[in-house]
Formats: sequence, structure tokens, C-alpha cells
Amino acid sequence: MSNDVRIRPAEGGLKGRLTLPGDKSISHRVGFFGALSSEGITAENFSSGADCASTLRCLELAGCLVERIGDKVRVRRGMNPGEIKAPLDAGNSGTTARLLCGLLAGTPGVFAVITGDESLRKRPMGRVVSPLRTLGARIDGPGGGAYLPLSIRGGCLSGGTFELPMASAQVKTALILAGLNAHGSVTVVEPAKSRDHSERLLRHIGVPLRQEDNRITVYPCSDLPGCSIRVPGDFSSAAFWITGALIVPGSDIVLENVGINPTRTGFLECLKKMGASIEIEEKESAGGEPVGNIRVRYSELEGIEVEKDAIPTMIDELPLLALIATQAHGVTKITHAEELRVKESDRISSMAKGLRALGADVEELEDGFFITGPTPLGGGCVESSKDHRIAMTFSIAALAAQDEIIVKDAQCVGISYPEFFDHLSMLSEGVKDLEYKR
Ligand code: S3P
Repeated sequence: MSNDVRIRPAEGGLKGRLTLPGDKSISHRVGFFGALSSEGITAENFSSGADCASTLRCLELAGCLVERIGDKVRVRRGMNPGEIKAPLDAGNSGTTARLLCGLLAGTPGVFAVITGDESLRKRPMGRVVSPLRTLGARIDGPGGGAYLPLSIRGGCLSGGTFELPMASAQVKTALILAGLNAHGSVTVVEPAKSRDHSERLLRHIGVPLRQEDNRITVYPCSDLPGCSIRVPGDFSSAAFWITGALIVPGSDIVLENVGINPTRTGFLECLKKMGASIEIEEKESAGGEPVGNIRVRYSELEGIEVEKDAIPTMIDELPLLALIATQAHGVTKITHAEELRVKESDRISSMAKGLRALGADVEELEDGFFITGPTPLGGGCVESSKDHRIAMTFSIAALAAQDEIIVKDAQCVGISYPEFFDHLSMLSEGVKDLEYKR
């Protein structure tokens, strides 16, 4: 069976209301911080994606107690597993692999091997391995620990201070997890603020931590308090529909109960500067995270130059911004985004190739793109590079295109958003008979 999907332009625009599945980043953290709590963390609306399922599977193999009923998940500390015989397979998930390093490095008596799929085995791991080694972690792997598979022998860790060369919430959280298990405090300083879900969840459950601008300190804590939370809708999943609504004439949609943590919503700020019609109705916050309903209507947009410090706050939405830029008037400049080259695919190259194949005017830079618009998008066949966000971005491009688009290997959407094509059919009349099998 083909895993390619054929999508026709959305006639009349995107219409309706949608509730998004739970946020992927927060769901991972429910698992990892639950693993350090004997009472455990319980979460409703846990992410339905394969990445968070990888986290739960690995944590179970690492001795944690995991209960899952529908979208409700409870994770708590179990017995120390000692030597774990089966490899911990993080699948496609960078967050799972990197946070496992932070968790296991400080668990004495544990031996584990962490691996992943073909894409994950090419992604850089030195960024977590090097600082963890400074704390005393025993981790090894190909290239001196630069890549998976990594072997970890857990032990006692000391405290320390790290100035990260890049803003990365995964590296920061790996070090926070190590710090909670260490014998001294751990301080992480980032060059710009990355998503702060870990800090918010820890504060919500009452764990002391110190935070000043981009500098955060955690202290050893032998048993985290437990809690129950409801995971807000995933902003990065909502971003696909925000994009579709902005670029398909006639659109008017409402996305309900979406996480609107300001360290994640740089995309909205950028779009507003471009002239987008976006209204936010704030709702009651959940688990220390702000939540809101987002109304988006089709808008005429102007090109923009994205500011350097905004890049980490919209890192996963940059492929969508590149698509939007093809429909905006003038030049959009996205730079300082070299991190995109080490995501699930090289997202600068995947987007530049795919958008050009559809007729867009894209100049590829080492650290981003210059995109000149507006250009009509033609039909055709585009590669997803087996990258969930690229597959979904080109599926949204198809809604605004002049002819149908085939997206290759589209089953990878299940990594973060298995309901994506069902939701696409719900919001767009034009794609009711979508040919797609999960
Ligand atoms: C994530 C952090 C980001 C992001 C990824 C999820 C997280 O990665 O791209 O999708 O949950 O911490 P980096 O930390 O590598 O920037």
C-alpha cells in the first residue's frame, strides 16, 4: 500500500472549530518528571503521537510504572532496573533520546543502550553527552558519543554550570533531569530562551528552582511531588491550521484550548506583524501553562525579517512560515535558523526543494531562507523526507495550490499528529474523499 497522499485545493477555505490533541513537549515531560516521583504524574489529553509513545515504552523498560487508559496517562517511579537488556528505542524522537540520557546518567546501578531510527541515529547527541560527562556521567557511543546508539552506566553526578552554545529545551531539560538526581545544584544558561515547559511543570508541582532570564538552577530532589494535569492542545499542531486558514481565501476557523506559552508562540507574533487576522481568547491555565482559543481568518500578508531571538520560540513552525512567505507580498528573511538542519530531516533543504518544485521563489541560505512572494503554488509531487512536520506543511500547501499535490511518505504525520488527515477533512470541504490509510 502506498503511503503517499493526494490532496486537492480547499475550495471555499477552511471552516469550523477544532480541538487539538495534547502537546507533545509537555507530554514527554509528564513521563520524564513522573519517572522521578513515587506518587507519579497523571495527565489527561496526553499526546497521541508515536514520539510520546516511544517515551512511555522506554520509561517502562527503564523500570517506571506506566498506566495508560485512552488519553489519560500516569507515570511513576518503579524499581531500579539495574542492567536493562533490551535497547531503549527512541524511534524518531530526539526529545526521548536526549531526556533519557539526562534521566539515566544519574541513576546508580543502571546500564542502558539508547538507540533510534535511521533519522535519529544521524542527529547530534554530543550536545547532551558533553555537559553530562562534565557532571561525571559515563556515556559512550559512535564518534566519541556524538551519535546514537549510546551506552550509559548510571552513577553519582556532581553539580555544575553550563553555558549552552545553542538554545535547546531538550539539552536544558536533560541537564535539569540530571540535576534533580545529582549531589549538587545544576545551572543552565542559554543564549536565548527556549521553551520553558520543564520549568513550569516543576514549579507547578512545587519543586524549588531559580530562574533569572535565560539562566536556570535546579537542586537535588530525591522524590518529586506528584500531581494531575490536563495537557493543553499542541500549539505546533495548531500551527498547521493557522497557516491553512491564513493562506486559503475564505477561511475562518477557531482552534480550542491550545497551549499559548509565550516561549512557543513566536510564530503568532510574527504573523501579526505580517498583517494576519488572529484573535486570542485566554482561558483558564492548565498545569502552569496558559491556554486559549485562537480564531484565524484569511489575510493579505506582508513579508517580514524574523528577529534572531524569536527563532527558538518558533523553531518547529519555521517550515510553515516559509510556506506562508510564498503567499506574502515582498521578501521574508529567515536567518539564524541553522538548527533546522539537524531536525528530523534537514528542514532548510526539504522546504527549499519542495517549495521550489511548486513554483515558489526561494533562496536557500546556510542558516535559513529568503523567500519572495506572492507566487502561485502549482500542483505536483513533493517529498516529505519522512519528516512529520514537512509532510504536514506540504499537505497544507496543497490546500492553497492551484492543482492537486501528492505528498510522499505521508504516514510519518503519526509521529506528532495521527489525527492530522481526519482533521484536514473536517476543516476543508474540498478534501472530504482524501485517499489516505493510516
Ligand atoms: C523540544 C525542543 C525543540 C523542538 C522539539 C521539541 C522539546 O528541540 O524542536 O520538537 O520538547 O524540548 P531543541 O531542544 O533541539 O531545539
